[in-house]
Amino acid sequence: MPYPTINTKLVTLLGNPLGHSVSPHMHNRVFKKLGIDCCYLPVEVTEDNLETVFRALTKMNVIGCNVTIPHKVGIIQYLDELDSVAQTIGAVNTICIKNGKSKGYNTDGEGFIRSLEEESQISVKGKCFFIHGCGGGSRAICMTLAFKGAAKIYISNRTFTKAEALSEEINSKIAKCSVPVQTNHEDQRNATQACDVLVNTTSVGMHPNEEELPFDASLINEKHIVADIVYNPRMTKLLKTAERKGARIVPGLGMLIYQGAAAFKLFTGVEPLVDEMSEEVHRLMA
Ligand code: ATR
Repeated sequence: MPYPTINTKLVTLLGNPLGHSVSPHMHNRVFKKLGIDCCYLPVEVTEDNLETVFRALTKMNVIGCNVTIPHKVGIIQYLDELDSVAQTIGAVNTICIKNGKSKGYNTDGEGFIRSLEEESQISVKGKCFFIHGCGGGSRAICMTLAFKGAAKIYISNRTFTKAEALSEEINSKIAKCSVPVQTNHEDQRNATQACDVLVNTTSVGMHPNEEELPFDASLINEKHIVADIVYNPRMTKLLKTAERKGARIVPGLGMLIYQGAAAFKLFTGVEPLVDEMSEEVHRLMA
């Protein structure tokens, strides 16, 4: 089949900078493997140009977009419709475009939960979570956990007022299950002892600061599942420490792969080949 042709569809990634993104490789490999006539193209765009670029894309042969830093919140004002999960999270990482109309979704939380449930063989429903960090990744994860019936979500953050605000939002919008936690040792200890899963959603431990730990190692025990959304390095200091203490671990690459898999399904209506996506990501990160 000649490629590309006038019938070839596009999916674009909107963000800035995009130099190290693995998403184009992950999606293009599966488009090719499944014989889907579509190409995933990274488009670096500044905030000043976002509206012009996005509106033009909706008038082209574009079936969808992924959105990344710094546009996950800013893009919302240009969309025709918003899925209820994305609306509650207040950020969009996936857009479907049909007949010139756009609808925004957020697959980050879903990607995290699928990775957690598959890699640790647990179900989120009824479990207690200690979430460290209050940025965009944390919002998506906490809101989705609350939607999926988590029993308790303790939120800890360097800036406590942000933890209070996020907890309050979860309790008022979704379910009364969230409690903010101060970063002193006693409060963190009490919260983590009551939890099944501990999650780092901050950038602490990310390359090049690989020797940093987001929270004290003494908080982790062998009953915990410890997840990190940092995926560079694949095995962060937090994950290595948790493994040494006998805890089960969930590395961040899973969330990256499954948020992409959920987006692929939304773009095409077709189940993606998750193993192919995973292999491509691991190959690129090696
Ligand atoms: P993202 O949207 O990618 O999740 P973000 O919005 O920049 O990223 O949020 C980063 C999170 O990591 C925040 O919770 C931030 O804490 P503050 O709210 O106090 O800023 C946290 N964070 C970043 N660097 C940190 C550090 N060195 N120590 C502790 N927390 C840190």
